Amino acid sequence: PRNLSLAVIAGDGIGPEVTAEAVKVLTAAVGDSVSLTTTDYPFGATHFLASGTIIDDEDFARLARHDAILLGAVGGDPRDPRLAGGIIERGLLLRLRFAFDHYVNLRPTKLYPSVVSPLASPGAVDFVVVREGTEGPYVGNGGSIRRGTPHEIANEVSVNTAFGVERLVRFGFEKANSRPAKKLTLVHKTNVLVHAGGLWQRTVDAVSAEYPDVAVDYQHIDAATIHMVVNPSQFDTIVTDNLFGDIITDLAAAISGGIGLAASGNINPDGTFPSMFEPVHGSAPDIAGKQLADPTAAILSAALLLDHVGLSDASARVTAAVEADLASRGSAKRSTSEVGDAIAAALAS
Ligand code: NAD
Ligand code: IPM
Ligand code: MN
Repeated sequence: PRNLSLAVIAGDGIGPEVTAEAVKVLTAAVGDSVSLTTTDYPFGATHFLASGTIIDDEDFARLARHDAILLGAVGGDPRDPRLAGGIIERGLLLRLRFAFDHYVNLRPTKLYPSVVSPLASPGAVDFVVVREGTEGPYVGNGGSIRRGTPHEIANEVSVNTAFGVERLVRFGFEKANSRPAKKLTLVHKTNVLVHAGGLWQRTVDAVSAEYPDVAVDYQHIDAATIHMVVNPSQFDTIVTDNLFGDIITDLAAAISGGIGLAASGNINPDGTFPSMFEPVHGSAPDIAGKQLADPTAAILSAALLLDHVGLSDASARVTAAVEADLASRGSAKRSTSEVGDAIAAALAS
């Protein structure tokens, strides 16, 4: 059997609860065809508060040797002053995305037939957001002066490089070209953010010449939120920057059955570094430790992982088992592990 070596960063809050189910399902899905090893890494807010360390350089070297990374969620108690300013989110999650050059943050959205959307008439919802993952306002290149005075000046800088935008846009066109609808929508705010927006629009225009079969569209981010609620079936492949992509994918999750179902992959398409798969949601401190979290988003993220490492059959089986489980859900609320057990059992049979 082929080898598959995974790093597992369960993280904080509901992270360990949902990740346990994702590993359970992934293990059942690959069966004997794969020699699977999982290595747990303790990183997250809990580890930082206990050890004083977020993540060392040696940890990066160890993580880099795995085929892929499965991550639950990170982020501790928002009221804890030792965790202020997203120290874990930036120092761990964003650092991993940047260090492993996860320039594509892939976030598929699908409203499964049996799932109830909060929208009255959603129509067919099946699109993918190709979110940039290493640039934009996330780079932390801001600063402030005269802090705490009436003259405080606070700046966040959005970094958009021609190189970074082009490689993301190219990935978006490849993705759109591989999908039946072959439609790419650039989402930005070119009417205000003229420098970055201009670069994105010019890049889309230039690359589109190489993809004559892909129809190209543009929406401002504010209008895109309207369209996503009023007529989400118009979307196929959305290409957008890091921050707009963060916001629009929580909305995409909400219209397609909720944040408990939304999966994502932080992809390094070049294969130089391991890609990292995680639910779109966070550590949900409000429901943590109670077995209330839906592990489906983590399980579907594991399916994205399997597809990425070339185990597309196992990936498809996980997705099908999730779809069947969704269809079987009634009003009785199951615990986190009951959902994982049911999906794993369906795969084993
Ligand atoms: P969140 O996604 O953790 O929670 C938002 C809401 O969705 C909450 O009501 C929560 O109970 C619910 N929810 C989330 N996942 C669920 C699931 N699987 N099943 C059922 N309900 C679920 O967002 P937040 O409250 O803004 O953030 C909490 C912490 O997580 C913060 O520290 C934040 O920075 C961090 N965060 C981390 C990641 C990540 O690790 N990738 C992503 C987003 C937020
Ligand atoms: C996400 C999260 C992260 C992001 C945070 C926790 C840094 O919201 O993965 O969507 O903004 O990318
Ligand atoms: Mn987010």
